[in-house]
Amino acid sequence: MAESSKRLQGKVALITGGASGIGESAARLFVRHGAKVIIADVQSELGQKVCDQIKSKFGDVVSYINCDVTKETDVENAVNTAVSTHGKLDIMFNNAGTFGNFDPTINHLEHENFTKVMDVNVYGGLLGAKHAARVMTPEKKGCIIFSASCASVLYGSMPYAYTASKHAIVGVTKNLAVDLGEHGIRVNCISPAIVATPMTIALFHDENIVNHIASGAASLKGVKVGADDMAEAALFLASDESKFVSGLNLVVDGAAHLRNAASASASA
Ligand SMILES: NC(=O)c1ccc[n+]([C@@H]2O[C@H](COP(=O)([O-])OP(=O)(O)OC[C@H]3O[C@@H](n4cnc5c(N)ncnc54)[C@H](O)[C@@H]3O)[C@@H](O)[C@H]2O)c1
Repeated sequence: MAESSKRLQGKVALITGGASGIGESAARLFVRHGAKVIIADVQSELGQKVCDQIKSKFGDVVSYINCDVTKETDVENAVNTAVSTHGKLDIMFNNAGTFGNFDPTINHLEHENFTKVMDVNVYGGLLGAKHAARVMTPEKKGCIIFSASCASVLYGSMPYAYTASKHAIVGVTKNLAVDLGEHGIRVNCISPAIVATPMTIALFHDENIVNHIASGAASLKGVKVGADDMAEAALFLASDESKFVSGLNLVVDGAAHLRNAASASASA
């Protein structure tokens, strides 16, 4: 890739949940576009393996840090490590997430599962934003991205805890965009469609089933969608090409949610 086409040249990114799935794809893509990347995850062996693979191709541009996003000291340490290693933090990608129990009916609502999903998906993301803002504010620039979900715009098929957590992320994104805008910090989220990652393959036990659901749900036909496509959306939001974009929920679902809404109103 030519230097001129590297969209994150000179930038430093911290990616939570970067050992697997969408976060891993983003780590690989961000490095290809010239960023220095820190992968923060709880799967240390996997995270280190991803780093080693990237390093073998691109050199010493990526590192791994063990970080449970629900623990403030871990998140604080990860952000401080980015600054002490690379001198700054430009991009905070709060991507770590958990699906929780697959219980799409309200009578399965259960406190322990609800608390865990909210803790990782919402509080963990907020901690990432808090500590990223701490180091970005004095620089008067920075970019915070969250992984929300198509569960923020689709109804009737997702568990309650997961749906609540991803709606919360959209609200948090908009609140932060207003709050941090005066410091030059952009805040956006992506809402991926279902794509095959360890999270969804564990749910459906088969990558082909996930791919089948993904293509069936989308209004846009003929596209084989994957985690890389979500990473591309994050790349756009991380790059200066989106320098005036803030407070956006970028839904990357081939218009699946519009079809969902159309069929709901047709049957009403
Ligand atoms: N795959 C999809 O279809 C899909 C769709 C919509 C939204 N999302 C969202 O995208 C994000 C990434 O999901 P994925 O599909 O790549 O899943 P994944 O399971 O492959 O990756 C999630 C990563 O988050 C890490 N993680 C979980 N809890 C953590 C914690 N407490 N601290 C640090 N790291 C933690 C995991 O170890 C894992 O590496 C999630 O927020 C998910 O909700 C995924």
